[in-house]
Amino acid sequence: MSTSPSLQTQTRTPEEATPSPQTPGPNQSPGSHQTTETVGAVDDLAVGQMKLARVGEHRIALIRTPSGIHALDNACPHQGYGLVTGSLDGELVTCQWHNWKFRAEDGQCLIGEEDVACHQVDIRDGEIVVTVTEPSAEEAQAALWPSLRRGFERDYVGQMARDVGRLLQTGATPEEIIWKGIQLSAPKVEYGIGHGMAMAADCLTISDLYDGLDKTLPITQALSGMSEGTRGRDSYPLPDGDASIDLAAAIETEDLDAALAATVGLIEAGASADDLLSIYVQAVSSHHLNYGHGAIYTQKSFELLDRVGWDKAVDLLPWLTMSLTYGTREDTLPYMRKAMRAIEAVDLASLADAPTADWVDHGQHLRSAMLNSDEAPIDAAVAAALDGAGVPGILDTVTLAVSERLLRYDPSTDFDLEVDFGWLDITHGLTYARAARYLWDRQPCEAAARLALFTVFLCHDTGRAERWSGVDHPTPDFTSAPGDVAGAVLDGKPDDAVAHALHADPHTAGQALVRASQMDRSGAFIVAAHVIKLAQAAYEESLTIGSNLPLAAAARFAAAPRLERFVARNAAEAIGFLQTGAPPKR
Ligand code: FES
Repeated sequence: MSTSPSLQTQTRTPEEATPSPQTPGPNQSPGSHQTTETVGAVDDLAVGQMKLARVGEHRIALIRTPSGIHALDNACPHQGYGLVTGSLDGELVTCQWHNWKFRAEDGQCLIGEEDVACHQVDIRDGEIVVTVTEPSAEEAQAALWPSLRRGFERDYVGQMARDVGRLLQTGATPEEIIWKGIQLSAPKVEYGIGHGMAMAADCLTISDLYDGLDKTLPITQALSGMSEGTRGRDSYPLPDGDASIDLAAAIETEDLDAALAATVGLIEAGASADDLLSIYVQAVSSHHLNYGHGAIYTQKSFELLDRVGWDKAVDLLPWLTMSLTYGTREDTLPYMRKAMRAIEAVDLASLADAPTADWVDHGQHLRSAMLNSDEAPIDAAVAAALDGAGVPGILDTVTLAVSERLLRYDPSTDFDLEVDFGWLDITHGLTYARAARYLWDRQPCEAAARLALFTVFLCHDTGRAERWSGVDHPTPDFTSAPGDVAGAVLDGKPDDAVAHALHADPHTAGQALVRASQMDRSGAFIVAAHVIKLAQAAYEESLTIGSNLPLAAAARFAAAPRLERFVARNAAEAIGFLQTGAPPKR
């Protein structure tokens, strides 16, 4: 086979042209260091021949082509199989295992994902002398960041995982690596940041449970989610900052350019995290925004900034602003009118000031109302708050009610294409409550109190499929039994997962659950994101309210079958719409 012109002329940006670096092994001291050895005679290596050599600990592929003698790492950067077991055609080395192709002269990958390290060759008195240079950690990182960027922009999960591992070995932190993904993807998300960013925030938190190189898993989950949603997209240009613009007003009027300029301007003018958060809390509670996602994305953005530092706010918050500006205002839809009338009649100042006493929801009146009444029980929630529940008590009850809803949901509904409803419509109820609690804890104000009332609405709305069916949906009487939560989730045994989660110490069960959430049991990204986000929110909520019910609910969701690709549902909806012109039932 001769080398095709297209392989020879593949171009890269200068940043991408960096060869894949050697990285120091776990026991190596940092600092660049060279090893030089004579590896054989020139006459013993014919043109067109490859052969294995050793330089110190390194296994090298010695390659003789018409252009000269070259030395590449023998381990293919894909999975480590030996290049010398592959083939050589002119100047082109092929790794036969998955057909990646490399230029012998410099190791550049022409077909595949990643370059192979190339080493210096000198000829002295007819002998081949190879020098292997192990870069310092700093030098290795300088090459690894562009490599990670290349993998990220192409959504090459394998390359991202390898580069994440190498970056960790060279001392990069999970925060630095995940932030690189935020920087690369946030400006490319079409209508502002979304599930990819939110999942990345949770993956960063979850990475604390892993040691050393094992952190590669949650970090790669984070990167792959952000990469998948932005591959091939152009960045949205940010306008110059203008701190004189009213950010809240610009979001409200959906004036995107003004909102972006205001966000950048406020950050440049030195606004604090609390200054910006107060505007966002207002924005996400002025409306039931984007089915609750406005509050969730705000929470996750600020959690990320808490980890990486406020000085990086301009990389992220403009895209949060975009998301809030473009978010659906669900409170304007007909089905929310009744609940909105009740919310608008509430004295928010009194609600926000309601003290939290030893409130016990005797008979679980509020929880039962959230689960079983025909209308969203806004008045009952306010009465409970004033009766000693306070805003936190409302959120506790929402969490418990949504957990119960998840525990009594019939997963076969996901596969009923006549019903525009599924698991994912319920999980938001819990992640929304978690977000509302985060925002209330940071800024207990009227706006955050109003947000809690929206969570009551959403909690009630998660029961709409139950109400459509007209069937009584009692919560099953789940048993509690010791066992391995993660094992039950990964084995796809929802009843066991629930029983074990109910029985376990919440820290143990929570950590098992969030680790299991990393293990790819979902086909579509959107489902994977919900599994991870729900697991983390349920873990945190269980600790906050002192009940394992959220953990059990999340464990059931993680273990149960889920609608994975959405193609059949979208096709069914398209056919129905084209035939009748009617929207899906709601
Ligand atoms: S190991 Fe070389 S191409 Fe897969």
